[in-house]
Amino acid sequence: MSDQPKQKPRILSGMQPTGGLHIGNYLGALKNWVNLVNAGEHEALFCIVDAHAITIDYDPQQLKQRILDAAVSYIAAGLDPEKCTIFVQSDVPQHTELAWYLSAVTPMGDLNRMTQFKEKSDEHKENVNAGLFTYPILMAADILVYRATVVPVGDDQVQHLELTREIARRFNHRFKALFPEPKPLLSAAPRIMGVDGKTKMSKSRGNSIDLLDTPKAVEKKIKSAFTDPNKLRQGDAGNPDICNIFTIHKSVSSPAEVEQIDRDCRSGALGCGTCKALLCTNLNRELDPIRERAAALGADRKRVLEILDNGREQATRLAERTMRDVRKTMGLGTGHYKK
Ligand code: AMP
Ligand code: TRP
Repeated sequence: MSDQPKQKPRILSGMQPTGGLHIGNYLGALKNWVNLVNAGEHEALFCIVDAHAITIDYDPQQLKQRILDAAVSYIAAGLDPEKCTIFVQSDVPQHTELAWYLSAVTPMGDLNRMTQFKEKSDEHKENVNAGLFTYPILMAADILVYRATVVPVGDDQVQHLELTREIARRFNHRFKALFPEPKPLLSAAPRIMGVDGKTKMSKSRGNSIDLLDTPKAVEKKIKSAFTDPNKLRQGDAGNPDICNIFTIHKSVSSPAEVEQIDRDCRSGALGCGTCKALLCTNLNRELDPIRERAAALGADRKRVLEILDNGREQATRLAERTMRDVRKTMGLGTGHYKK
């Protein structure tokens, strides 16, 4: 991707390589990334946010593999490395540099309000580190270092985006208007619940359908998935609005199918078993080519590293351009002085 189309708005998003991606990641964000890139109206960068992933306990050897696996999943899901920049966050140290500078304009009170911090510090009581607390500042830096304006994410990231805009405003007010205020862009399925129906689908909660699960595994998980608790048997009227199976249908089934399911579930004509079987067929049809591409690319480590290397170069060039302005504006360093 060239650096030419400056007039196009810039997109940035990322995912943590904390385990295999699941269909919440895919339907909530990744699928939207692919559609946006293919529509060609933006300049797009996608990173694998490994520096975020170290804020919970992890194994360095496993992280190395998970970074490559995440890259494989991004590309297998349909991101074309010729049309967008795919890279690893820690390969571009300008992110962590900017995060430190931004921490000086981020109020503690704002960080204290972050619900993801509260959830994660409850989940990982034995390791509530400062990085978990300052996590949203690094996320703000990921975005602002490219002056990106569009951030396609699931709805759990909307609060972090609000904080990013606040940080940009504070920086612009205190120093100089360097940063635009980025906005979240939600997909048609911004929150997929887990198969347990209790909480959001998430890598750490063991309630996910994974992007690279086998068709059999997908079938098994869907069969046992939670639906409208008031619909006990075929013939009972159900409420698709509160059914996670219906939410997933909306992302993978045709509009005509979705309309019919909605109608027949409410009337009681459609039982959960039939509805789930149709979902299995449609979801597996969507995941089949992704699984195939992932198997092929996963075996080609050289190609994956080549793509990430290219991405690192392109991203570094853009990030360094911003950082030169930032250092100068903040009065930092001497590298920019005329000799
Ligand atoms: P994470 O796995 O936390 O790095 O999330 C990566 C992206 O996937 C973010 O844009 C999240 O908002 C999105 N995401 C994660 N879980 C879900 C979910 N259950 N439903 C919808 N989007 C999700
Ligand atoms: N915080 C995001 C999550 O947990 C991941 C992330 C890090 C991100 N940096 C980002 C998302 C920048 C969008 C843009 O899912």
